Amino acid sequence: MTAAPPRVRLVRFTATEMADRLTEALRVYVTAMGYPRSAVRQRAPLWREHTHRLGWRCVAALDADDSLVGLGYGYVGARGQWWHEEVRRGLLGTDPAGLHWLTDYFELTELHVLPRAQGNGLGEHLLRMLLTGNERRSVLLSTPELDVANPARAWRLYRRLGFVDVLRQHRFIGDARPFAVLGRRLPLATPDTRQD
Ligand SMILES: CC(C)(COP(=O)(O)OP(=O)(O)OC[C@H]1O[C@@H](n2cnc3c(N)ncnc32)[C@H](O)[C@@H]1OP(=O)(O)O)[C@@H](O)C(=O)NCCC(=O)NCCS
Repeated sequence: MTAAPPRVRLVRFTATEMADRLTEALRVYVTAMGYPRSAVRQRAPLWREHTHRLGWRCVAALDADDSLVGLGYGYVGARGQWWHEEVRRGLLGTDPAGLHWLTDYFELTELHVLPRAQGNGLGEHLLRMLLTGNERRSVLLSTPELDVANPARAWRLYRRLGFVDVLRQHRFIGDARPFAVLGRRLPLATPDTRQD
């Protein structure tokens, strides 16, 4: 892994810091994903609610001006959470043997870097810091399938770090796009850790 990009520092955000900088964080998200600005207001209550979930943790990348250029966050997955139940539904319908992934995992909910800061290894640094010291058995995430606009960078990062397929072509309720669910056993520090 390369050194952290120059003039960018990674810090852990507390829930209070996230709440204080929520609009800025959501602007990073909509810019990175190419979503309309209206998504900032729509997503705010959900992101705020996530900070109260068990095991919530967030890592932020700040530039020399203390502006947010990237962030990642997640929490411990559990029955009853919308994402958990959606992945469970998908696995039950296609690969029930894969349900073991839903035991003791950290859900990587968001990972975003502003376009101007991408390609410097920041995404990998954010992800590694988020997962360092994470005591869950595995980490799970969902990302748009490869044939949908601009997901290739995220895919390259996840594959490089050893994420494997858990569920493919999943249609989350309320989203027309097909998604992949990817997973990796923890800890991340041992790239040869067996995947099953
Ligand atoms: C996914 C994302 C967080 C990765 O952040 P990053 O700082 O670019 O990550 P990295 O520098 O570690 O590199 C990721 C890969 O994208 C490549 N990449 C990044 N920027 C690039 C660019 N401008 N041109 C070509 N390749 C680029 C990197 O070379 C790397 O590929 P590699 O492993 O083959 O070398 C970032 O691209 C992003 O925010 N994308 C949009 C939002 C998104 O898709 N988030 C994930 C949703 S699940």
